[in-house]
Amino acid sequence: MLDIRFAAARSTSAAVAVVVPSGEPTTAVSLLGSVPKLRFGPADLDECTAFLEDVGHSGSAGSVHSLPRPGRQPARLLFVGIGDGDEAGWRSAGAALAKSARSEPALIVVAPVELPPAAVRGLAEGLWLASYRYELSTSSPAELRRVTVVLDASGEHAEALERARAVAVSTMLARDLTNTPGDRKTPAWFARRVEKAASGVPQLTVSVRDPAALAEQGFNAILAVGRGSTRGPRLVEMSWRPRGARRHVVLIGKGITFDTGGICIKPLSGMKLMRKDMGGAAAVVGATLAAAAMRLPLRITALAPLAENAIGADAMRPGDVIQHYGGITSEVLNTDAEGRLVLGDVMAYAVRRLRPDVIVDLATLTGAQGVALGKRTAAMYSHSDTLAEEFTGAAAAAGEAVWRMPLLDDYAEELDGGIADLVNSTDIGAGSLLAALYLREFTGALRNDWVHFDMSSPAWADSADGELTKGATGWGVRTLTRWLESASA
Ligand code: BES
Ligand code: MN
Ligand code: ZN
Repeated sequence: MLDIRFAAARSTSAAVAVVVPSGEPTTAVSLLGSVPKLRFGPADLDECTAFLEDVGHSGSAGSVHSLPRPGRQPARLLFVGIGDGDEAGWRSAGAALAKSARSEPALIVVAPVELPPAAVRGLAEGLWLASYRYELSTSSPAELRRVTVVLDASGEHAEALERARAVAVSTMLARDLTNTPGDRKTPAWFARRVEKAASGVPQLTVSVRDPAALAEQGFNAILAVGRGSTRGPRLVEMSWRPRGARRHVVLIGKGITFDTGGICIKPLSGMKLMRKDMGGAAAVVGATLAAAAMRLPLRITALAPLAENAIGADAMRPGDVIQHYGGITSEVLNTDAEGRLVLGDVMAYAVRRLRPDVIVDLATLTGAQGVALGKRTAAMYSHSDTLAEEFTGAAAAAGEAVWRMPLLDDYAEELDGGIADLVNSTDIGAGSLLAALYLREFTGALRNDWVHFDMSSPAWADSADGELTKGATGWGVRTLTRWLESASA
């Protein structure tokens, strides 16, 4: 992981980055002039001014213009835009620097003297997240190893950097888990990775239910979905219990390690990326680890039902009826609507056994989500205006996008009419919304304290974009962590 630290200015051969606020290129030049250790004389500063005019640097967030200075120190200047200088602007700047300075061994960032802690957080998250690479086995790390921010850092700056680190580490773990190919990503493997990530953290525990335990306790939907695979399902329960915590939040994430569709098999076009179908599970585990790293003073339980939706002689059939944990029955009209089945078990368990104050679930639940909202924006459902507003704010602050969708009661009747309490699939359109209405049936007394995110599309990026790298995005770690931070403030 890229090493980011604070230090005093010094003369350097490393590349130096200077920030440019929107529409104020001269600020960057005076900033360079104000650091005596860099030894920028009037001629150097004039050169910078001319360069910035020449390239027409607008200062827009994430725009970079590079001035090579062969034979001089520093050998390269990177002028990076921070837009309005808010956290998002700094995040874009960090991400842009991670790319522009990829082949530099070290980078010095000259920051304004009165740098707010939020800027440090944005800069560091952008740098870390954009320099992520998924390495299958041998690692060939990018050149850029160290970024030094020239700053007389306060405790608040250090705290902001540590929070950024916690979020980045967890997002990278979620990306790793999600990028991992389906052949090696069995439910048991995922559970072991989570145990490893949590080991040694005080007050953080992980328990894993295997198929025998799931059968004994009645998690029948998890078992039904996993029955087509030789690699048995698991239920991961991660618990963060700091002393004195009053509020209890349950985070639930869909963990289908590969979704073939089951007997209602998907066509190749819809199947080839289905190793990402555990992105929700990766995000809730990641957010809980981040909260533990920050030692947030609230209780969190993360639940990740893990199963492979495969095809086998004993696979779940269309028309089968499952009795969920807690008693609700579902008629399986489509074996490809498997996410809501496993989530149903776990939501019922959370409501009955854990009695939390809030339930939040994340799931790559429907292709319809991407039809409605495209590649970057998750669909959010909740009956609580308060929670919806809190999460909208958390997502915006964290740099992820959500859009609240309606839970239209009129459509709920589509869920009955089968031989069981619910059918798991309908054909009236509004697929993301119907899936949310289905999940709502399992919220019990927490119906108004529940938020559901359908993050099917934003879980994956087809190309690098800002702080996102190609492949898994780790969507949700940032939004959840930000919300947990504010919920414990
Ligand atoms: N995992 C898929 C949803 C999905 C699709 C996620 C595309 C990411 C990208 C889910 O299990 C699924 O197959 N949903 C079905 C539901 C339908 C059968 C009611 C879908 O969206 O087609
Ligand atoms: Mn499916
Ligand atoms: Zn699925």
